[in-house]
Amino acid sequence: MNTSSPRLSDPQRYSAQLPVWEPRIRLWHWANLLVILLLVITYLLFDNHALLGLSKPTTVLFQKIHFYLGYLFTALVLERLYLAFRGRVFSRWRDLDPRHEGAGFLAVMKEEINRHLRPKIDAGGRPVPDPDPGHNRLGRFLYLPLLAVLLPAQVATGLLWGSLKWGLLPLPFLHSLSPGIAKPATWVVSNLHAAGFYAFLGFLLLHLGGLVKYELTFSSDLFSSMIHGKKILTEEAAKNYETLTGDPISRQ
Ligand code: HEM
Repeated sequence: MNTSSPRLSDPQRYSAQLPVWEPRIRLWHWANLLVILLLVITYLLFDNHALLGLSKPTTVLFQKIHFYLGYLFTALVLERLYLAFRGRVFSRWRDLDPRHEGAGFLAVMKEEINRHLRPKIDAGGRPVPDPDPGHNRLGRFLYLPLLAVLLPAQVATGLLWGSLKWGLLPLPFLHSLSPGIAKPATWVVSNLHAAGFYAFLGFLLLHLGGLVKYELTFSSDLFSSMIHGKKILTEEAAKNYETLTGDPISRQ
């Protein structure tokens, strides 16, 4: 696939198109989206069984499909956590941490919101994109809690719920707890799981809204970068890429 961007015809603005997202991250991203969509659909079906007039066996079937998809989701979350430690430079925790040059979370957030809402303007009158080759620094405020807290918590509460309700792995013995313990435990776990779902919807709204806003402001190619893996970078971002990866960029 020819991924050379027409945006590179203006070297004053964008100077290089470079591989940022390794294949395993792209595969993870889209497989994860698919599995999450299936989890949401099965959840909506069994949760609205009365409204939809579903029979008890059909409702239970959707619940079980949801739980088995949960195992796939668990494997995907573990895979992404593995990449955060062992993947390429742009898959690692360091590239997910918004802090830099000694500035803390709040200072960086203020600076980045300002940069995205009121970007600097270059000599050609166009807004100057951010200098980070990998994760967008404002996006890191979403990605870091998603990967470090929300997804693992959703996995943990989902697995616990499956064990409590059906005696499924990993803790099948929870199914034989006395009702006095099992009932409140199931209530807590299922409510935390539902809260995680709404938090996830919030993430998705901000994720997609942020991507659209970025594309419109900087006329970038973020969306396709998660397909072919390359990002178009400004001169400053390309220099940062060289520093982070240690790969010198050949300049024609
Ligand atoms: C239609 C839905 C989606 C689209 C079009 C989309 C698109 C993208 C794009 C273009 C990027 C690169 C952004 C950047 O450069 O900072 C990205 C990154 C990312 N997206 Fe999505 N995304 C979608 C759904 C999701 C979902 C459901 C998740 C939830 C798990 C997710 C999690 C992430 C994460 C964690 C990253 C950072 C890359 C990484 O470190 O793995 N996305 N997404």
